[in-house]
Amino acid sequence: MSARPWRRSPEDFAADIEQAIGWMVRHMGDASERSVWSRAQPGEVGSKIPKTPPSEPEPLKDVLRDMQKIIEPGLVRWDAPGWMAWFPSNSHPDAMLGDLLASVAAQQGMLWTSSPACTELETRMLEWLRTAMGLPVCFAEGGLGGGVIQDTASSAVLACMIAARDRATQSRATREGGSACGGLVAYASEQSHSSVLKATGICGIGRDNLRLVPTDDEFRMDADSLSEMMKRDMAAGRQPCFCVATVGTTGCGAIDPVAAIAEVCRSHGAWLHVDAAWAGTAALSSRHRNTIVAGASEADSWTFNPHKWMGASFDCSCLWLADSRPLIDAMSIEPEYLRNAATDGGDVIDYRDWHIQLGRRFRAMKLWVLLRRTGVSALANMVDFHVSLAKTIEQHLGAHPKLELAAPRSLSLLCIRHVDGDAATQQLLDAVNADDRFAVTHCTLDGRLVMRVAIGALSTELADVETFSEYLLAAM
Ligand SMILES: Cc1ncc(COP(=O)(O)O)c(C=O)c1O
Repeated sequence: MSARPWRRSPEDFAADIEQAIGWMVRHMGDASERSVWSRAQPGEVGSKIPKTPPSEPEPLKDVLRDMQKIIEPGLVRWDAPGWMAWFPSNSHPDAMLGDLLASVAAQQGMLWTSSPACTELETRMLEWLRTAMGLPVCFAEGGLGGGVIQDTASSAVLACMIAARDRATQSRATREGGSACGGLVAYASEQSHSSVLKATGICGIGRDNLRLVPTDDEFRMDADSLSEMMKRDMAAGRQPCFCVATVGTTGCGAIDPVAAIAEVCRSHGAWLHVDAAWAGTAALSSRHRNTIVAGASEADSWTFNPHKWMGASFDCSCLWLADSRPLIDAMSIEPEYLRNAATDGGDVIDYRDWHIQLGRRFRAMKLWVLLRRTGVSALANMVDFHVSLAKTIEQHLGAHPKLELAAPRSLSLLCIRHVDGDAATQQLLDAVNADDRFAVTHCTLDGRLVMRVAIGALSTELADVETFSEYLLAAM
């Protein structure tokens, strides 16, 4: 037994990796052979894990054995070719490798001084993505704004809402607390993500002060209604503070008219945040870029999740700001123990001031490895391929008189319902999810149940969507 049993030598680590690779390779290879949904019952996984941890070391082979026996039955195969639920959350092998390298590099990037590499690689990765996606120069590295990696789009919207709240109250909200938020109002469409409502509660604006703006017949925010709501609020002595435009809503992928919304926000002094959590990846493709980034140059902040469609492994959410000062002002706090010459010199970015937490992971590493090894054009081709697969399903199902699209196809997302009503749609959902090969989820549109079919798993092939379409038609 080693005198320092808590340590692991590089040689031991290499041997462990070799053993673990066996599990990894098998797992990556069997995505199409396992049930996509876990069939575990509540408590089943937990019941097989001891209630107290081991006091003495256990061999890795025992851990890997339990990985297979205990953990695997509780895994949901987001990587399966039949994964069409929610949105994709892809772990590309290049991103996995980047994550592993980042873990071994063991950086904590709260300050430039705590890791110059973590900080500067992140700044440059955001610039790579900005240029690859055609995002405007107002978000560029070295300007008034710039980019940062947040853990999730939920954190990104919260951070921006806090910045907007402080901009609107000349920082009184941060100094004095909730009472300073009195009269502030936020806006987002009826189809916006629940993280917006959550953020209004956390940041002190208050959930009651989020206005849900009506949408048009394709579920896009109606900019005229937004304008009327803001005018009404101002007439009542309230202050429009923050608005979220969604590019690719969670339900049906609707794309809000960002430019028109920006005009309304500008004339009322409200911060405009664009949430492109899922659809942002499509800007890598020249076919979709203009649709996705339209109006972005008028936004205060713009976010998308490379951990969804792009394959960057959870978690990784990119946020750009046209002017980072309100965010930094709201988040900046400098205890003595973090003071250092680089920060005092003012020439470096300290990302701890760009989000809520202090410590931060080296997430830029997985973007670096993914973008270098896979390349932007392959990722753009992937987007185009997935959109073509969704079109194939649309064509197959479009021929059936009892099926209809509840909203126009958006990129690779389809919203399908049975014309006979919710009970019939539910039967279809149940039939699809009962089959081990497929996973779909639902939403409601216009108060009616809808089956969402979200193509985008890295492994999905034409044969998979053909099989899915045949299966669905047979279940009718
Ligand atoms: C449009 C939109 N915004 C925000 C989110 C929340 O993303 P996150 O899990 O990164 O907070 C989602 C999740 O699917 C989404 O679809």
